[in-house]
Amino acid sequence: MSDKVPTGAMGGQVEYWNSDAGNKWVANQERLDRQLGILTDRLFEHTDIQVGERIIDIGCGTGATILRSAPATGTGGTVLGLDISHPMLDLARKRSKEQGGMAHLELRIADAQNETFDPGGYDLIMSRFGVMFFDDPVAAFANLLSALRPGGRLCFVCWGPLANNPWFNIPRTAAIQYLGTPAPAPPRAAGPMAFAETDYVMDILTGAGYADIRIETETCDLVGAATVKETANISLNTGPAYRLLKSQNASPEIVASIEADIETAFAPYLQSDAVKVPAELHFVHAKKV
Ligand SMILES: C[S@@+](CC[C@H](N)C(=O)[O-])C[C@H]1O[C@@H](n2cnc3c(N)ncnc32)[C@H](O)[C@@H]1O
Repeated sequence: MSDKVPTGAMGGQVEYWNSDAGNKWVANQERLDRQLGILTDRLFEHTDIQVGERIIDIGCGTGATILRSAPATGTGGTVLGLDISHPMLDLARKRSKEQGGMAHLELRIADAQNETFDPGGYDLIMSRFGVMFFDDPVAAFANLLSALRPGGRLCFVCWGPLANNPWFNIPRTAAIQYLGTPAPAPPRAAGPMAFAETDYVMDILTGAGYADIRIETETCDLVGAATVKETANISLNTGPAYRLLKSQNASPEIVASIEADIETAFAPYLQSDAVKVPAELHFVHAKKV
């Protein structure tokens, strides 16, 4: 099998995840996994993985979830991690080797929307933030459904609305004060917040043929750095504020002012061990009948 996804496909997602964005996830893997640790624990409670299960992990990235699901299935099960990002999957491969390698874990460069799967060959399709980037979500989820056995399940976590996610909204609001409001993106365009509206997610999964669709919206803390200053700096390096700064080529003085405003807004979230910012998340469940 070719270890390639054609570039130019998927509205630029392949280029995006193989350049700046993918490289940032690689460079910041430890920090991001710590930041997302609490919600990842919740995701694993939601997935309820059983020994011997066959799992696909969509957009498995640098490996946090596959390195946890593979031990959970045991060698009687299988885990297939898919991703379109070479740098991210390379790190996942390196980490799995460091854990001694797992013969029942396969990591594959592939576009989950168009990949051909063993029909009915899987018990669970899961994802941490890897399913919001398809250019045709209904087609993509229908393709994934074909991989599930009857009674098999889908379980993923995605972000709720920007307004309820201060980790992104505080830096964005601060940046807008100095740089102006960016041209509005179509609200459901492929991207981290594409599945913020639960009705939209319901429609996609219904259209793709899933049953028993259930969305549980929960609040989990995102764990930032030990200080507000460091957390503000981190928050400016990803997400909507970063994109605004980059598109406007903001001067160091403006960036410093934005960062100071973010520090003020994050200050109430400082706890004894770290800055902890509540995130609104959707844990989405569905089944194949
Ligand atoms: C926000 S990152 C999350 C990565 C990882 N799940 C985690 O939580 O650390 C989104 C991931 O989805 C991957 N991705 C985007 N579109 C994809 C597609 N069509 N098929 C497979 N992976 C995809 C990206 O390359 C990226 O690794």
